[in-house]
Amino acid sequence: MEALVKPFSRERLPRHIAIIMDGNGRWAKNRFLPRTAGHHAGVGSVRKAIEYCGSIGVEALTLFAFSSENWRRPQQEVSVLMGLFLATLERETEKLHKNNVRLRVIGDRMAFAAELQEKIAAAESLTSVNTGLNVTIAANYGGRWEITEAVRRVARQVADGHLDPDAMTTEVFASHLNLADLPDPDLFIRTGGEKRISNFLLWQLAYTELYFTDTLWPDFNEAKLEEAIKDYSGRQRRFGYTGEQVETLFVNTGPL
Ligand code: FPP
Repeated sequence: MEALVKPFSRERLPRHIAIIMDGNGRWAKNRFLPRTAGHHAGVGSVRKAIEYCGSIGVEALTLFAFSSENWRRPQQEVSVLMGLFLATLERETEKLHKNNVRLRVIGDRMAFAAELQEKIAAAESLTSVNTGLNVTIAANYGGRWEITEAVRRVARQVADGHLDPDAMTTEVFASHLNLADLPDPDLFIRTGGEKRISNFLLWQLAYTELYFTDTLWPDFNEAKLEEAIKDYSGRQRRFGYTGEQVETLFVNTGPL
């Protein structure tokens, strides 16, 4: 990969970027190719996003690869997506590990084939002690599912007498969610022109800056990502405070 400049000062750089990768099907259709060709091309953009985020010092990148609703797609497309996921894990895990990337998958993986579940577990275990970029793939994931799972865990603790309902706070609850060890996303990007969150990280996106682009995912490259980060870095995040308070008390990434 060509050398990349670091155009962002540290306090203007998002610590955590979350992306809905949309537009693979349209990208393929525009080229008179089957939809699945768009997914294959989309893997290239995944690689670019990971490399770019790693090179500029972003701490976490979370990518929505397959929603709980995507099972509704034609069987052949679902099976190509599963195959791509498996092949990409097989091909890229070692390289990610060498680059100090920590890889995790969130979502209900029990619905996946045993082989895919094993590959996911092996990749997570191999990279678990890495201290570089945190890459999380959301697969068979839905924000409401995640919150419901957390509620189930909390309810069980209460039922077992391990948790006093009055001791419940937003922080305690958040500790039961996925990615509790990471800061919430600072920047959310959705490619492909739609302006929806689509059940992605519902809790974690509460204060996230939202960025929507018409660029189709396979065309989303380093320059497009840099553009999104530049847009983010020019925004003032207020977290409920007034603009004047923010100017004197805070930097762009939150309370000092
Ligand atoms: C949305 O485009 C994209 C997906 C549902 C799949 C995303 C998957 C990849 C980028 C490749 C595999 C990923 C990994 C991590 C190996 P769409 O099909 O909804 O596009 P459309 O809106 O144009 O139809």
